[in-house]
Amino acid sequence: MKDNNFREGDARSNVFATDVMLNPAPIDRIPDGPTTPQVAYQMVKDETFPQTQPRLNLATFVTTYMDEYATRLMNEAINVNYIDETEYPRVALMAQKCVNIIANLWNTPEASRWKTGAVGIGSSEACMLGGVAAWLRWKNRRKAQNKPYDKPNFVITSAFQVVWEKFSQLWQIEMRTVPLTKEHPTLDPAEAMKLCDENTICIVPITGVTWTGMNDDVETLDKMVTDYNKRTGNELCIHVDAASGGFIMPFLSPNVKWDFRLNNVLSISTSGHKFGLVYPGLGWVIWRDKKYLPSDMSFSVNYLGADITQVGLNFSRPAAQILGQYYQFIRLGFQGYKTIQQNCMDITKYLHDEIGKMPQFQNYSNNVVNPLFIWMLKPEYDKVSNWTLYDLQYKLQQNGWMVPAYTLPMNMENTVVMRIVCRQGFSRDMADMLLNDIKMAVQELDKLEYPTQLRIGVNKNEHPKPKFNHGGTHHCCNDKNQKCCNNQTNK
Ligand SMILES: Cc1ncc(COP(=O)(O)O)c(C=O)c1O
Repeated sequence: MKDNNFREGDARSNVFATDVMLNPAPIDRIPDGPTTPQVAYQMVKDETFPQTQPRLNLATFVTTYMDEYATRLMNEAINVNYIDETEYPRVALMAQKCVNIIANLWNTPEASRWKTGAVGIGSSEACMLGGVAAWLRWKNRRKAQNKPYDKPNFVITSAFQVVWEKFSQLWQIEMRTVPLTKEHPTLDPAEAMKLCDENTICIVPITGVTWTGMNDDVETLDKMVTDYNKRTGNELCIHVDAASGGFIMPFLSPNVKWDFRLNNVLSISTSGHKFGLVYPGLGWVIWRDKKYLPSDMSFSVNYLGADITQVGLNFSRPAAQILGQYYQFIRLGFQGYKTIQQNCMDITKYLHDEIGKMPQFQNYSNNVVNPLFIWMLKPEYDKVSNWTLYDLQYKLQQNGWMVPAYTLPMNMENTVVMRIVCRQGFSRDMADMLLNDIKMAVQELDKLEYPTQLRIGVNKNEHPKPKFNHGGTHHCCNDKNQKCCNNQTNK
């Protein structure tokens, strides 16, 4: 056979000896004809080749390690569409069992056999569902009282995750933000209450704040909401965004009240794919009781004897994550989750201590309450240094680590911080390798005789285009009286 035939690519061709490998990958048009699976695989695989290894990505909260059995189980279910409940009723039932397990981890008071909750693609969908339910409950109440219902609002800190800005924009619900300050590095409950009125559909505290790793004080907020409702006759309620905290608090801080033990908490959302320990995308939302899930956004079906609530923004969605979640519950049990989360916390505290000891750095908080923390340059060092945390981020990237540097939300927008999220799959040995790389990078940066471009920019309050996605854009403050948080990062 002539060489040319091999070069077109057939089962006997060496992948890198084919013509396809001499051509650029398609960008605009579908190629005229097929190529072999080996060549197509190599091209697609190679396109992702230069990226960070997911387990070295310390920017993400999302699971990057599951064991082989979990991975096998999920791969085997890759062709199952969750929405086909008639065909796959066992998957629907499994999701409902996960809802029950999570509701009980969060101390639901709901007495019925099957608890009220729903599966989402991530916390974003789960937050939206919690928010929409709060809005519809408020709207139905206002309608029944013959009161206007065209100006709903909700209250959250300026350290909101971008999903809440999307919620505000998509449903046209005003977002009122309580700024973080040095004195109040988490939601100031008294300030939050000042922003509430009869049009407030809910307050949204966060456990595991994306920007800082800290927890809003839901218990104090709950007390204030009870007083407020008594005083005003309103029915203000709380939705907890527990994207990260939902799978940390029950295991590591069981005595802290942040969940359905607090009477005004009517719904909670979390990410199964963060500390729920499942590959993306999986989220969960649970309501305190069926009566808090408006009937106009849900319907119930009975599969295999289980009363299953159906509510969601998506229709088709992968079933594999549900199998992965149920597997983790069975495989790990309460003690298994607890030890994994505790290991993550221990490694986080170790890194927090070691970074805090370095002369250039200072931690944002002395406490580590979730397996993540942020730190900054010491103010006196920041004034004289020729480099910034952005430079350190790029240096670490050369060794494969992704450790994000970004600015804090409004009122603290000139503070550049760096964050590490420790997840399952990040060992003490890896932490030591990272520390060593940080020390080496800092040593080199400290030798610089002239400021870097990034340092020159930061001194003029010009920060690189944000890379890391936590908060919203400058549209975030719908309240025109508030200072616009236009530096917030947006992907
Ligand atoms: C507090 C908070 N809420 C919501 C989200 C959105 O979560 P997801 O990526 O699961 O949609 C995140 C993601 O980091 C988060 O940290």
